[in-house]
Amino acid sequence: MLRRQFLAAAAVAAALAGGLPAQAQQVAKVGLVLPMTGPFASTGRQIEAAARLYIAQHGDTVAGRKIELLVRDDTGTPDVTRRLTQELVVNEKVSFLGGFGLTPLAYAAAPIATQGKVPAIVMAAATSAITEQSPFFVRTSFTLPQATVVMADWAAKNGVKKMMSLVSDYGPGIDAEKSFKDRFTAAGGESVGELRVPLRNPDFAPFLQRVVDAKPDALFVFVPSGVGAQFMKQFVERGLDKSGVKLLATGDVTDDDILNDMGDAALGVITSHHYAAAHQSPENKAFVDAFRKASNARPNFMAVGGWDGMHVIYEALKKTGGSTDGTALLDAMKGMSWTSPRGPVQIDAATREMVQNIYIRKVEKVEDELHNVEFATFEAVKDPTKAAKGG
Ligand code: PHB
Repeated sequence: MLRRQFLAAAAVAAALAGGLPAQAQQVAKVGLVLPMTGPFASTGRQIEAAARLYIAQHGDTVAGRKIELLVRDDTGTPDVTRRLTQELVVNEKVSFLGGFGLTPLAYAAAPIATQGKVPAIVMAAATSAITEQSPFFVRTSFTLPQATVVMADWAAKNGVKKMMSLVSDYGPGIDAEKSFKDRFTAAGGESVGELRVPLRNPDFAPFLQRVVDAKPDALFVFVPSGVGAQFMKQFVERGLDKSGVKLLATGDVTDDDILNDMGDAALGVITSHHYAAAHQSPENKAFVDAFRKASNARPNFMAVGGWDGMHVIYEALKKTGGSTDGTALLDAMKGMSWTSPRGPVQIDAATREMVQNIYIRKVEKVEDELHNVEFATFEAVKDPTKAAKGG
């Protein structure tokens, strides 16, 4: 009896001290909030598949903690993101949050991550200002300005003089529009029109007619992952693929998840991005092969954001020796560097943004499949809108 009481007291003392009671292995819960249904479900599917693959390959125990993945479907609706994130923090007591498929969803989660002091890994959303909404945000995706300035530089150096832009009318689209225009006009180019298309159920036809009328040398496009197929279809229906207007875009448009279904109209499209399934490296070959085997699908840039997000979580837990103190975990993440399937990356300690290569790619046929084939690399690109912060 005395011995039982002593053991119980010891277990409580150990738990209070943050140590491990002998029998019960401690858990670290990771709550992913993602659009699993609705128009952006492909983002949720890709990220969940990559996170599960990471756990399968690296084991489900890190620094004495058993990793438990909780996936919640926010349907792409900010109010739902807010409610689910709150539940994960308050009821489930998650040690990490992650996911965030669209910018408004990341904004909805920001105050909860801050109040709960829970590190929140932005694996998808890409408006530059997101990481400024909470000091507990760390991003493993990219920012639109990061990808876009590289495209603008390439266009200015490759004979484009007059351009137009067409973007989805919300955070990342506005970022893309502004950074392309600023960079391209600074290099002596001319912008002859900026078109903003609604995010939900877009009809591109009336906007594309304005492109036909203005006849720029190039059209620069951003639409979020999943929407590119619809854009390409209407681009071809308007005859723009044969009009001499060069199509330039961020890699979101020729998303690897949907590229193969776009058909030959996509051949030759030039994009800039941080990840292509066709990226040539041993790490990426292993990632793509394993992803295909596990999910019967090609990973896209969302998947790599999820994979690297799990890497950050695992490595941070190793560094803290299994402590789930939010501030300690965040400190462990800052400045972390590793070799991702996308290439060498680092989390900028000052901005909590990825420093990463941005590749220029061209859609080509490789073994009967359409791929984004990389042909130029801009190394270690930071988010240009935060360059002043250094880091
Ligand atoms: C975003 O909403 O931030 C977002 C979503 C999908 C993308 C890029 C940005 O492909």
